[in-house]
Amino acid sequence: MIRFFGHILTSVGSKVLIALSGLALAGFVVFHMLGNLQVFQGPEALNSYAALLREMPMALWSVRVTLLAIVALHIGLSIRLAIHNRRARPVGYVTHHYRRASLGSRTMALTGSLLLLFILFHLLHLTAGVVDPSSHNRLDLRGHRDVFGNVVHAFQNPVLVLIYLVGQAVLGFHLSHALSSSLQTLGMEHPMLDRLFRGAGPLIALSVVVGNVAIVLAIAFGLVHA
Ligand code: HEM
Repeated sequence: MIRFFGHILTSVGSKVLIALSGLALAGFVVFHMLGNLQVFQGPEALNSYAALLREMPMALWSVRVTLLAIVALHIGLSIRLAIHNRRARPVGYVTHHYRRASLGSRTMALTGSLLLLFILFHLLHLTAGVVDPSSHNRLDLRGHRDVFGNVVHAFQNPVLVLIYLVGQAVLGFHLSHALSSSLQTLGMEHPMLDRLFRGAGPLIALSVVVGNVAIVLAIAFGLVHA
């Protein structure tokens, strides 16, 4: 046990845990986007889906607590690793030569922090209803929470559209590099796998962003309405 935690404290152990926790969070983001696409099927589909999740409070809260623990682990270990790497290189480079490092990899800390801010805003907005309390507690015709109505109401507001579009751009950048590098951390040093993993990150990130942006823009342009 002590050896296990000792291994986690090494930078290799941290990298593996950051990769695994990142992949779990990416899995949630893909699943969440697919669930939200039910906006295109109308209020009944999205509201019944949201109601179904709430009818299983034990499962819902288990997932929420697990997600929170994974987020805390991911952020905590990332900060620790960044500090460790900085300490290992006490003299800052005078000039920066970024040879293979992509823009995504150089901006992980920035995009990660912005993504966290977006998620906090998003939870206050659509889960807690703090950003726009007037519309949050409405019920639909079947007595379910009107999640569809909340989402449509939100993206009729240009400021919220802009915040969510910026959030998606940040998510895309972070996810694209994070997925490729997580898969590489966990993968074997093989040129074919390497190429596959490098391509998979941007592809999955793009699919998530396209799905989410489609929801925001379809509502903003009136293609989906209450
Ligand atoms: C346009 C994009 C998005 C839409 C339309 C959307 C929609 C929603 C809605 C409607 C809820 C509340 C569900 C309910 O109360 O039953 C929610 C919750 C949530 N969203 Fe999103 N979301 C989007 C993007 C994201 C992204 C990019 C993330 C993470 C990176 C995210 C993370 C979450 C989390 C963690 C919750 C709380 C889930 C819970 O425990 O109830 N969402 N989202």
